[in-house]
Amino acid sequence: MKRMTVVFLAFLFVFAGFAFSKTYIVGTSADFPPFEYVQNGRYVGFDMDLIQAIGKVEGFQVEIRDMSFDSLIPALKSGIIDIAIAGMTITPDRLQVVDFSDPYWSADQDVIVKKNSDYNLAVLFGNNKVGVQTGTTGDLWVSDNLIKTGILKHIVRYESFIYALQALINGEVNAVVLDSPVAQRFAQTQPVSIVGVIITNENYGIAVNKGNKTLLDMINDGLAKVKASGQLSQLVDKYFGK
Ligand code: ARG
Repeated sequence: MKRMTVVFLAFLFVFAGFAFSKTYIVGTSADFPPFEYVQNGRYVGFDMDLIQAIGKVEGFQVEIRDMSFDSLIPALKSGIIDIAIAGMTITPDRLQVVDFSDPYWSADQDVIVKKNSDYNLAVLFGNNKVGVQTGTTGDLWVSDNLIKTGILKHIVRYESFIYALQALINGEVNAVVLDSPVAQRFAQTQPVSIVGVIITNENYGIAVNKGNKTLLDMINDGLAKVKASGQLSQLVDKYFGK
């Protein structure tokens, strides 16, 4: 073979490689340890590793976009992102506008207060201020069950759980309602304690735009393979193990 031909073929190979491995834009809200958070300027966590692992078995690359949790569904709808993975609960309302993968985790809602404060579950009543992340199931639960009924006077919505946690520690709100696995992580690493559990029986799924069946099938297939290979339980040990 002539040298030029060899060089040409080598180029073709490299380009074909790029062309065939598609990159999907994956949205998250990186304020939710151990599912997604920032460490040394990188997006890490259970969800981040999970979507990478699914991409690997299904032959696609992922590029992470961090945004506020309540922007994820609009971003899926408008095509700014292809996939959302953010400890997102599969709810009937969300199912109207996006499609979800098979569930990969389950959670309830926990009530956390500042450590060594005198608050108990009664913090959810009366004149107290309860913080939530905007648009989350915690926000919906507090709004529907406590605010609309007049049981609680004040809800404070934060774009990020990082801000909600900060506000709790600074005494700007009396409690925060958030997903149990994340509350447990914060209780281990921050000066906060859990004073109650609200059983909501939530399941997390990976979301795609409604009707994007090709991508959804690929994600479900990848999820099943990552489970079957034992990789999923390795991730559980990595992020939830002692
Ligand atoms: N599971 C809750 C929901 O779907 C909270 C998710 C918040 N996720 C996050 N990455 N901040 O509404």
